[in-house]
Amino acid sequence: MTAAGFLRAILAATLLLAGSGAGLVASASGPALDAARSGPCVEDPKVMRRSHMDFLKHDRDDTVRRGIRGIKHSLSACVDCHASKADGRVLGSEKHFCQGCHTYAAVKVDCFDCHASTARPAATAAAAAPGSLR
Ligand code: HEC
Ligand code: HEC
Ligand code: HEC
Repeated sequence: MTAAGFLRAILAATLLLAGSGAGLVASASGPALDAARSGPCVEDPKVMRRSHMDFLKHDRDDTVRRGIRGIKHSLSACVDCHASKADGRVLGSEKHFCQGCHTYAAVKVDCFDCHASTARPAATAAAAAPGSLR
């Protein structure tokens, strides 16, 4: 291939690694987020980084419009696993999992107007976080 074609291929690969058209860079140089309490994630983390919004919206529609229970991408399950070990939350600072990345990527999410941004007590006890129930 030509030199320009080669450079374009490198650039495309770099953007693919960054995982998002929204200007996100790979975690190594991206925001420093709270580590998950356990694992694995419900999908490959690389897939999640790119597509979690689609999974969440799809499964919300299954629950709310079609009455399907036991969905794979439950928002409360995300919160249980990704909440800070220190305070049990996914919002609150630029280290908190959901807020940290959305602030970094300049994305606004209104889900937590209604949904709890705090891990449920059982999940919090399991993570042995000191005194941080909602
Ligand atoms: C059982 C625990 C668990 C559950 C439930 C879970 N995750 Fe994850 N998730 C992980 C782990 C572990 C990783 C790898 C990164 C880490 O260690 O924090 C990860 C990675 C991710 C990433 C990529 C983070 C990055 O820095 O690139 C996103 C985005 C994500 N999860 C969103 C979600 C969402 C949204 C849900 C709910 C639909 C969810 N996760 C449910 C454990 C979980
Ligand atoms: C590694 C970065 C990262 C993490 C961590 C992350 N998000 Fe996101 N999220 C994004 C980006 C980037 C977008 C915008 C994508 C786009 O517009 O194409 C987004 C968009 C969304 C949207 C769609 C917003 C809309 O109205 O269209 C939802 C819902 C969402 N995220 C939920 C969550 C939840 C819940 C968590 C925590 C469990 C989380 N995200 C963690 C990067 C992240
Ligand atoms: C106006 C309030 C409101 C807002 C805002 C809202 N939801 Fe919901 N959501 C609900 C209600 C009510 C249910 C039904 C709860 C049930 O039946 O268990 C629900 C159910 C869900 C479910 C399925 C149940 C579960 O275990 O997770 C998902 C997924 C979900 N919402 C995701 C989202 C996402 C993602 C956003 C943001 C883009 C969002 N919601 C914003 C009220 C809201």
